[in-house]
Amino acid sequence: MKIGSIDIPGKTFLAPLAGITNLPFRTLVKECGCAVVCSEMISAKGLFYNSDKTLALLRSCPEERPLSVQIFGADPAIMARAAAEIEVMGVADILDINFGCSVKKVVKQGAGAALMQDMENSRRILQAVRNATTLALTIKIRSGWTPCGSQAFALAETAQQEGVDAVIFHPRTATQGFKGRADRTLIRQLKTKISIPVIGNGDIHTAADALDMLDQTGCDGVMIGRAAMTNPFILSQVESLITHGTCRPIPYTFIFNKMERLIHLYIKHFGEQTACRMLKGKLPWFVKGLPGCSDFRKNLSQIPSTAHALELIHNYEFRLNL
Ligand SMILES: Cc1cc2nc3c(=O)[nH]c(=O)nc-3n(C[C@H](O)[C@H](O)[C@H](O)COP(=O)(O)O)c2cc1C
Repeated sequence: MKIGSIDIPGKTFLAPLAGITNLPFRTLVKECGCAVVCSEMISAKGLFYNSDKTLALLRSCPEERPLSVQIFGADPAIMARAAAEIEVMGVADILDINFGCSVKKVVKQGAGAALMQDMENSRRILQAVRNATTLALTIKIRSGWTPCGSQAFALAETAQQEGVDAVIFHPRTATQGFKGRADRTLIRQLKTKISIPVIGNGDIHTAADALDMLDQTGCDGVMIGRAAMTNPFILSQVESLITHGTCRPIPYTFIFNKMERLIHLYIKHFGEQTACRMLKGKLPWFVKGLPGCSDFRKNLSQIPSTAHALELIHNYEFRLNL
């Protein structure tokens, strides 16, 4: 698959997840075999005001490319300026516009999913951003504000007319949050309406689910979010299932190696103290479902040092292998 001029080396996309898909996590997922990783959402306004926090979210490294950077906002001029700035920084291969975020803080500004009921401003944003950058351009959308998907279809068709290169579709309504199930029939319908690639997203929990999504909808690729938080290897499992027809269970040793790797990536990116604070909420995800994981997870609720976390991991691995 190609998105604009970018060759996509597979069918899997790590979803943008605010607070989670930072550079260390993306690097880990990429090293495990995911095709494209996406940044957390970046505020176009934050970039306009040179916010340090926003700029920090734009740190990248060559090993994670191709990288998709997602921006959100409601003002076409500010969105265009963010797009141009990101292109000049040279950190992204794909620029994604967020049309799906339904959290109050974003919708209140007229951004994210709010744009799905404001086609006029959506078109202005698409035109302004398309004129501002030569980066491959994608949009990430929901079904809209009603379950029939008509707003999603209209926006995707408009996006295609305005030169967008692919559409990522999470077929839940803006008011649905994460309740109910993603309606895959809408992805199949969207595939009949536009010719640019469609990436299906929503409720992929296993590699087999991803294959079902591809088969049932005819989508060109799959994007995985929440399942990657507890199993960052799911994207490589999907690639393996597509390429080789099988995917092996992940050995314990591999999981523990990758936990250690994540610790080192966090130290490098955030420094020891911040790494400790952030990792205590994240490392426990990796062992969900493993025998005796609850004690291990409890112990990880305090990480005074990364050396302590590494020791806990070694001890738990040793006990599991007895
Ligand atoms: C913690 C969290 C953070 C998210 N942050 C973003 C974001 O920054 N941008 C975005 O477009 N979607 C965001 N999403 C939505 C996901 O990208 C994805 O569309 C959604 O989780 C459905 O996919 P899944 O069922 O594979 O998780 C977020 C979801 C979660 C759970």
